[in-house]
Amino acid sequence: MTSFADPAKPDHVAIIMDGNGRWASGRGLKRIFGHRKGVEAVRRTVEAARLSGIRYLTLFAFSSENWKRPKDEVSDIMELISIFIHRELQNYHAQNMRFQMIGEREGLGPKVLGALEAAEHLTRGNTGLHVVVAVNYGSRAEIARAAVALAREAVDGRISPDEINEALISGRLDTAGIPDPDLIIRTSGEQRLSNFLMWQSAYSELVFLPCLWPEFSRDMFDEALREYARRTRRFGGVDEPASAMTGS
Ligand code: IPE
Ligand code: IPE
Ligand code: MG
Repeated sequence: MTSFADPAKPDHVAIIMDGNGRWASGRGLKRIFGHRKGVEAVRRTVEAARLSGIRYLTLFAFSSENWKRPKDEVSDIMELISIFIHRELQNYHAQNMRFQMIGEREGLGPKVLGALEAAEHLTRGNTGLHVVVAVNYGSRAEIARAAVALAREAVDGRISPDEINEALISGRLDTAGIPDPDLIIRTSGEQRLSNFLMWQSAYSELVFLPCLWPEFSRDMFDEALREYARRTRRFGGVDEPASAMTGS
């Protein structure tokens, strides 16, 4: 799904918040200090998104591959996610924001899962900025889960295998009902998706920024929106108006 409401402004911005570890090690600090500092950038970014009037903000907080990291780093990150939600939830709820988690719930600790689900539950009727947090998220795992769901429906006779199309697959992803991201921002200078929204990003505009995530600012967010406004999206078509085309 793509919104064409205002072609110069993204409806959905998704961010790969990368570079916390490098921010810390560049200062001779342990990686966890980079993650702590990164939480402040998350707060600034949610506020920037709210003020910019975009409808959806997706934040990649922890990937299904990040379990490979040292145990104490993983538990520190999970703790930071829970604390962030506990601290901000009432305030975000008062601002009419909606929270949603994408990613595999199984395997998450009860504390972080409890915080994420409580946030989803409390804000489910809100109509302001929709904040999607990707935790234990990986695109390949998400697509595989969608395939399992569709296979079950086919075996149960609820759908025929021949009916399976792009819309049915989209509808079984964690992001069902959420428009595809118009703009994906990645900080830290890396230029890859790292298993983030690979199905949904088919026609996303990508903006790679050299800054490390803890340095990400409101100005950088606004500059990424301006960069987006300068892009020409074609979705496989041509950008000339149809009336300018002559028959051959
Ligand atoms: C992003 O920063 C945060 C998570 C992946 C949880 P990193 O921790 O990946 O920071 P770098 O890439 O090592 O600098
Ligand atoms: C992607 O960053 C995951 C998040 C930002 C949560 P990584 O740091 O895990 O990605 P790679 O390993 O550099 O590709
Ligand atoms: Mg990284």
